[in-house]
Amino acid sequence: MTAELQPDLPGPGIEHLLRSRRSVRAFRPDPVSRQQVLDILRLASWAPSNSNTQPWRVHVLAGAAKAALSQELLAAHEADSFPPAAHFPAVLPERLRMNQEQFGASYYAALGIDRGDAPARKRQTGRNFEFFGAPIGLIFSLDRRLTPHSWLDCGLFIQNVMLAARAGGLDTCPQVSFVRYQSVIARHLGLGEHDAVVCGMSLGYADPSAPVNSLAVPREAAERFSTFLGFDLP
Ligand SMILES: Cc1cc2nc3c(=O)[nH]c(=O)nc-3n(C[C@H](O)[C@H](O)[C@H](O)COP(=O)(O)O)c2cc1C
Repeated sequence: MTAELQPDLPGPGIEHLLRSRRSVRAFRPDPVSRQQVLDILRLASWAPSNSNTQPWRVHVLAGAAKAALSQELLAAHEADSFPPAAHFPAVLPERLRMNQEQFGASYYAALGIDRGDAPARKRQTGRNFEFFGAPIGLIFSLDRRLTPHSWLDCGLFIQNVMLAARAGGLDTCPQVSFVRYQSVIARHLGLGEHDAVVCGMSLGYADPSAPVNSLAVPREAAERFSTFLGFDLP
């Protein structure tokens, strides 16, 4: 089968698409259909991958299936009996630590949570496991025997999912928080021994009235993270 190349696809401009994607942490309950999710995943599957291996897998949850997983995860979160997930090294490089610090301050400020208020922070972290009220929860997984480049492929796919969702008027939040409860998710979804949870994602329609959704996270200037070599033109 040959894939058709369509260079002049209609749709919103790339700048609008990229800049209108934000991590949304409060959703309206409006439902999203199986077909809508399938359309998003079909589009996202055009992500590049090393030798076209397409290593990603997605588990799409709605209704009672989503509620049942949320319930188990919330119970695990409440019990606090799992070791923290190591999705960052113990010491972050300074530039990253500064960005993280800045994000944490504006995040909790947007929520009206004092950063010293551990119970309130824990409650907010728990909202991750309710998929922030979104009607759809996604869990991305990958064969854990793969190397970092396949994780990169998976990341490209996940970004495509978020942009395809935006193109369809939907919003998302990618969530590494789920990784702490790998074993709960694996049991619940019937994952195989080689499946690793990469992250979760909330998918639905943003609630524009929620203060947390007004959070606008800045970016470093491109000149700060780029090095240009050998240019004649400025
Ligand atoms: C891999 C990954 C994991 C993330 N995990 C979480 C999470 O567990 N919970 C959450 O609220 N946000 C999570 N985020 C969202 C980031 O905080 C967010 O992308 C970042 O602050 C930039 O904000 P923006 O997405 O609104 O541009 C995650 C983002 C990525 C890419």
